[in-house]
Formats: sequence, structure tokens, C-alpha cells
Amino acid sequence: MLEVKVPATSANLGAGFDCMGLAVKIYNRFTVAPAATAKFTLTGDYTAGIDTGEDNLFWRAARKLWNRLERPPTPLQATCDAQVPPARGLGSSSTAVVGGLLAANHFAGEPLTRFELLEMATEIEGHPDNVAPALYGGVTLTAMREGSVVFRSLGRAPALSLALIVPDYTVETGKARAILPELVSRADAVFNASRVGLLTDAFLRGEYSLLRAGTEDRLHQRQRAGLTPGLEDLLDKAGTLGAYGAALSGSGPAVIAFCRPGAGKEVAEGMAGVLRKLGINVRAFAPEIDVAGATLRQI
Ligand code: HSE
Repeated sequence: MLEVKVPATSANLGAGFDCMGLAVKIYNRFTVAPAATAKFTLTGDYTAGIDTGEDNLFWRAARKLWNRLERPPTPLQATCDAQVPPARGLGSSSTAVVGGLLAANHFAGEPLTRFELLEMATEIEGHPDNVAPALYGGVTLTAMREGSVVFRSLGRAPALSLALIVPDYTVETGKARAILPELVSRADAVFNASRVGLLTDAFLRGEYSLLRAGTEDRLHQRQRAGLTPGLEDLLDKAGTLGAYGAALSGSGPAVIAFCRPGAGKEVAEGMAGVLRKLGINVRAFAPEIDVAGATLRQI
């Protein structure tokens, strides 16, 4: 039996809309074995509302790989132990895509490299910023160029704690993308481009004081505030509690903050308090950064 363990991810990191992300130590675990007929089962903390049918993302990813290899599907029995909260901006759909690709590739004899799987996962997801850290771990930067992915690892972000709050309501990524304008002003483009430079430098050099500016954004966060009540106050609260910076995680509603070592829990609890005052149920975490990316092992 194969276990594919895929980390949750936080995309955007503020200014890095659709191009930056990091992996955290919260996992969806897929146990997979060849079987007479294909079957997908869901267990764990988050089973409600997830499609387990043949059109779910795990199977769609697996089928894409078999099509590319021009091989008939291998019937697989797969169980997902779901610990990544879905539709919260933590890359749960990417875990299914990456899980399906890695499992299908394994049982096909590992013909494709991890980078080839990144390109396939990006085609399925439409943007690479969750699937890249899910596959490689750590902090990642990606760019789409002539239909291909340019991938750079920005390292493991040592000496940084995370604070993560996960509200008890969902935001559909499609809806959160549909509200974004097609066109942005030159001033906003320059604002974000300059801050992606700062974010990159912050992670490459461990110069985390740059995260205050690097997590500022004009392309998506303010535009999504209507879907994520209290967002401005949450970002302010993280700063008040000494975080280097904070950002909407993916398309939300989770929020991530970058903190000094050991400070993640206090910042997360402080941010959670902001939402609890608004009557919103929320869970506070201080997860470590996952540096391994998705892993496979025989169990
Ligand atoms: N970069 C994407 C977005 C991530 O913000 O829409 C979605 O998980």
C-alpha cells in the first residue's frame, strides 16, 4: 500500500498573487493500492461536501497522467485522510491534484519527473502557486512563461514562526477570483511588482523585516474583503502583536502571519479573538513550514 502525504499550502503571501506560496505541516494523506475496481473514500476531519465521485480532482489528475502516457487507467482504491480544511485558502484542492498525479505516476513506474508533474498540476489548477509548494515544500516562486512553469525555491524560511487562523466558513476560489478586475492601474502593478521583489529578498536572505512591505497588496486582498469579514482588522492585529507581516491565505478566508520564532501561537490567538468578537467561529494554529513537499512511502 502506498501513502502519499501532501501538505497544505498558503498562496500569494500578500503581494505574490498567483506566483508565491509556502507549504505548512498540515496534511492530506492518500493511501492507495491497485484494486479490481476504482474507489475513493474520504475519512478524517473534513469529509462534508467533498466530491468522492469519478470527477473528483484526485481522479481527474490521475486520468490526465494516464492520458499523457497513453496508457489505460490502473484501477486504484484510494482513501484520503482529510486534515486540510477545504475551501479556506489552504490548497486542499491542490493536495488532491498532487495526490492523484503522484499516485498514478508511482503505479505507472515513475515515468514523469516532479517538475513534469508540477506542469500538469498547474494545467489542472490554472495557477502554480499552491501546487508548487505542495510538491516541493518550503517557500516557492513560480512564473508562467510561454505555457511552461518557471520554478524557484526560495528556501525553508528558517527562524520564522507562522500564525494561521482558519474561520469556520468557506470561500469558493472561483467566486473569489471572479470578483477581481481584469485590468489594474499602472500604480497598482508597480506597487505589487516592487513588493514581490521585497518578498523574494526577505525569504532568500532571511531578512524578515522586509515582510511588512512585502505582504502589502493591491491586486486581490482589498477586493476580497467583502468575502472575508474583519480582514483589515486581522492584518492590523497581527502587526500590533509584533508579526513581521500578514496576508490573506490564498483566496481566503484563512489568514497567515509571519512571526518571530515562538510567537506564532500568541499572534494566532490574538487574530482569532478579532473574529470571535464578530461572532465568527475560528481555529488558531501555529503550524511549522513543511520543507519536504509531498512524500511517498510504502506502508
Ligand atoms: N492565487 C490563487 C488566488 C490561490 O488567490 O485566487 C487560490 O487558492
